[in-house]
Amino acid sequence: MSAILIRGGTVVTARGGERIDLLVRDGMIAKGAVQDAKAKVIDASDHLVLPGLIDCHVHFREPGFETKGTMESEAGSARAGGITTVCDMPNTNPPTTSIAALEDKVKRATKANNCDIRFFFGAMEREHLKQLEQLWTADVHRLLKGRCAGLKVYLDHSTGNQGAGKDVVEEAFQLCAALRIPLVVHCEDAKTNEEARENVMEKGINAHSLMRPPESEERAVASVIALARKHGALVHATHLSTAQGLALIRQAKKDGIAVTCDVAPHHLFLSVDDYAALGARAKMNPPLRTREHQEALWGAIADGTVDCIATDHAPHTREEKDIADPLKAPSGVPGVETLLPLLLTVAAGEWPHPTSSSPVPHLRYEDIVRLCFTNPNKIFSLRREDITEGARTPLVIVDPKGTWTITAKTLHAKCGWTPYEGWRMTGGVREVL
Ligand code: NCD
Ligand code: ZN
Repeated sequence: MSAILIRGGTVVTARGGERIDLLVRDGMIAKGAVQDAKAKVIDASDHLVLPGLIDCHVHFREPGFETKGTMESEAGSARAGGITTVCDMPNTNPPTTSIAALEDKVKRATKANNCDIRFFFGAMEREHLKQLEQLWTADVHRLLKGRCAGLKVYLDHSTGNQGAGKDVVEEAFQLCAALRIPLVVHCEDAKTNEEARENVMEKGINAHSLMRPPESEERAVASVIALARKHGALVHATHLSTAQGLALIRQAKKDGIAVTCDVAPHHLFLSVDDYAALGARAKMNPPLRTREHQEALWGAIADGTVDCIATDHAPHTREEKDIADPLKAPSGVPGVETLLPLLLTVAAGEWPHPTSSSPVPHLRYEDIVRLCFTNPNKIFSLRREDITEGARTPLVIVDPKGTWTITAKTLHAKCGWTPYEGWRMTGGVREVL
């Protein structure tokens, strides 16, 4: 029997912070008295104790792209960043568009010790939706279904070319509404992007943002809301990056439509101004936007429009990213290990970007727990337990004042680089239990 006493820390839940000592016996938060003479004591004075966080959008690359990352390597990176539950996207090889492919991923995930990996199903064709329906309704698949967080559809191609046609998208909404399957949508409009591509003359990396313009997200979000209204599905728009996209979600929520959304750290902390320093390493879909959009994202966090912050952790190797033509480099950035430190820095009252100054957004520690634990837990029915007596939940001990500098050398993702190299942090993970 092992016992750990976490003494003097402030336990943070979505409701706020409270000074409580916690006794953890064999992985379970003890009920009642927090005394045990044999317990190993962790002095958490001046520290925060958070539940292991949830990142509802990652690409852990296995199977098929193990040079970019493996479940084991990326799970290690997540845990080092205080994230202990993730939802992995279907653009692997083979793609997660069949029950067999999902089963294979679930088996592989047993190697990723200490990280609860859930999986999104993907669909580019009708046949994939048939598989999902079977997964959701056949009793033999009950356990496997428990590991599936929902369905992901792409309205335009991104890395992995999983764009789905209009018919499949409409059917996906119908199926998800009928079976109450959470439906995550990558909101970029294929036609708008195609037209923009034809008109952009610029050859440098800035062209990436011009070829996937804000109107593309706006149109896609509008059509997603219309479909949600029509079919009544539980729709989650992921990595929203524009003021327009968020304004539409804000209104849809007011109108009583069951729509939720997340934003990604690269859109919160980087903008098109960062292309000059980062080149194709700052290339992702949706692309970086101007500072005005960046500010609108923070505004949408402040007014509750944004439900979750999710990283869209999408590692590629340095060699792939640093090729001569930046527009040919793959889209995606790593971020699972740096999310919590970046947010802690904002909560500490500092703006972490080394060269762009900005009024520091208002963010409390309990907001971080709400956005990165409570809300994704509920939206995707992940059934992770909050910090309460009798719960078995990983605990993250955070030093909110400690200062340190991000460098890829000390991060754990296999790709070995980060867009936040050299950024000064205030607050970091001390230990994950
Ligand atoms: C993702 C990837 O690399 O898998 N890239 C990205 O830019 N976000 C694909 C995706 O989800 O769009
Ligand atoms: Zn993604």
